[in-house]
Amino acid sequence: MLERCTRGHVEGRVRAGLLEQGTVNLLAQAGVAERLSRESLTHAGFTLAVGERVHRIDLKALTGHGVTIYGQTEVTKDLVEARLSNGGQVHYEALDVAVQELGDRGARLTYRHDGASHEIECDFIAGCDGFHGVSRRSVPRQAMRTYERLYPFGWLGMLAEVPPVSKELIYSNHARGFALCSMRSATRSRYYVQCTPQDSIEDWSDQRFWGELRARLPREYAERLVTGPSIEKGIASIRSFVVEPMSFGRLFLVGDAAHIVPPAGAKGLNLAAADVRLLHQALVEFYSSGRRTLLDEYSSRALARVWRAMRFSWWLTQLTHKFSDEPFAHKLQLAELEYLVQSPAASLSLAENYVGAWRD
Ligand code: PHB
Repeated sequence: MLERCTRGHVEGRVRAGLLEQGTVNLLAQAGVAERLSRESLTHAGFTLAVGERVHRIDLKALTGHGVTIYGQTEVTKDLVEARLSNGGQVHYEALDVAVQELGDRGARLTYRHDGASHEIECDFIAGCDGFHGVSRRSVPRQAMRTYERLYPFGWLGMLAEVPPVSKELIYSNHARGFALCSMRSATRSRYYVQCTPQDSIEDWSDQRFWGELRARLPREYAERLVTGPSIEKGIASIRSFVVEPMSFGRLFLVGDAAHIVPPAGAKGLNLAAADVRLLHQALVEFYSSGRRTLLDEYSSRALARVWRAMRFSWWLTQLTHKFSDEPFAHKLQLAELEYLVQSPAASLSLAENYVGAWRD
């Protein structure tokens, strides 16, 4: 494992925090869910708010599944801990990582660490290095096609040591813009507001953030909102991105290196985990039988789920965010939200995508 940043940086970054049951199962199978089972929260539903109207989506009743609240950063810590205690290595601060070969004879990459040059020869490379990583960029341009959509807003996220405003998550469509109330524990809240792409963190004092969040919540929640100093604040740009295929020779792209979803619906980590499951199965098959069937099918099998999550994240984003001042667009959102509230079929469609209860 080659990682450009320090362990402290990686383990200090605040990321999303909602795990599908399939992701929890995978972590349990891998033997890294001990702390998760002690510290996570289970949610049976969430709330959709539209102005002053509030509607609960009962995930458990609709699908038989809930979702698990446990920070992605905590998953990372558990995985690193497991790797180190199994005698594995993680090379932090690996600089200038470069893929040198991906051909029939094997893969080779080079990097610098502590001022010295290093080289690794290997059978395969799992490119788990995110959207800005070197893996995808090592593939010849003509060998891959990209699909992309940018959205005209960002998400401003803040973490604070205050009790969550509600036991479950609240997704709020408001005339001032989208807001999301999430959490990391019974005493730690994670909140987001839609902001403009040009906004910078300096524009957003804690006071402005809390005022804006409160203004975008239905009164019953706004009145209960407990505020406090932020522990962390950050702005994320919002995009949909897919590269096809997700493999090239001996390189297999995993997670954000191959696909980015808008954060609404929290599919990013769950998609990455689903990629890992497929790649793991393929490598087990290869090393136990020499067969490459699952390696050859990795990309197409992964992409089926990726596009399903792309569609869902795009849909939830366009349903809940403010794209423009155009009244027609807002009226369409209201009509669709009304349909969701009224129709068990529409609620089920949302719920089964949200919990990720899909067949691969
Ligand atoms: C989060 O807790 O960070 C989170 C939860 C649900 C989402 C997105 C982010 O849809």
